Amino acid sequence: MPDYVDVNRANWDERVPAHAASPDYGVALFDDPTHLSDVVRFDRPRLGDVAGLRGVHLQCHIGTDTVSLARLGAHMTGLDFSAPAIEVARRLAVRAGADVAFVQAELFDAPAVLKRESFDLVYTGVGALCWIPSVERWAGVVSELLRPGGRLFIREGHPVLWATADRLPDGLLVLDHPYFEVPGGTRFVTAGTYVATDVAFAHNTTVEWNHGLGEIVTALLDHGLDLTMLVEHDSVPWDALPGHMADIGAGEYRLIDRPERLPHSYTLSAVKRA
Ligand SMILES: C[S@@+](CC[C@H](N)C(=O)[O-])C[C@H]1O[C@@H](n2cnc3c(N)ncnc32)[C@H](O)[C@@H]1O
Repeated sequence: MPDYVDVNRANWDERVPAHAASPDYGVALFDDPTHLSDVVRFDRPRLGDVAGLRGVHLQCHIGTDTVSLARLGAHMTGLDFSAPAIEVARRLAVRAGADVAFVQAELFDAPAVLKRESFDLVYTGVGALCWIPSVERWAGVVSELLRPGGRLFIREGHPVLWATADRLPDGLLVLDHPYFEVPGGTRFVTAGTYVATDVAFAHNTTVEWNHGLGEIVTALLDHGLDLTMLVEHDSVPWDALPGHMADIGAGEYRLIDRPERLPHSYTLSAVKRA
């Protein structure tokens, strides 16, 4: 496995218990059989009817969105490279009474461990693409998993947001990180995580990549997927610029000062050519 996989997996493995215990992920809320994650609730108007679809959720983390999609009637498989995340996801599915298959695997191994061209829906996003060093290879994985006519649905942090400096002097939006995909990625050292927790973590290094919107669209077109939706949003489902964003409800955050300056996130849908 390349170095970035081990570095990032150590970081993720260690954060799983804090995420599973956090009100932000709301695992206990799934005891209510009608509960859906905020992320899937946000997606619903664009997602359409998923009942009966064979779906795979790539980088499913602890399965809150995967189980939510199953509750909407999709036959879901979740894939993630973190064993603790998959363990929590399996327990959540049992607790929620959802029939979901969870598979522990690295993203680029997905076509080898899952059935190729067998899915009607590939669902992913909300902090998923930034862990992948090549959006071109990622699009190849998506294409290999989809049956002809099957659909990719992704809502993700906007590459302009990922490129924005974490500190905003004088409230100005400053581009400080790469917008385009760069070889080797960017190494970050971050003590905490994106949910509130008192846990002191030992593995704080990550290697991450941004991917420009054009790079994402081009990679999908090159791998035989046609774009059917590209919507940019003025909110994002986590506090991406702490101290500068307001919680606007339903799990969404928005820049406090002139949010119209910043594309916060986007939803993209694409269909694999027959
Ligand atoms: C922020 S979560 C995204 C999932 C979902 N949006 C959520 O918040 O629950 C990112 C997930 O990507 C997984 N991940 C990171 N790199 C991966 C890789 N190379 N292969 C498979 N999973 C990976 C991590 O284990 C983590 O569970």
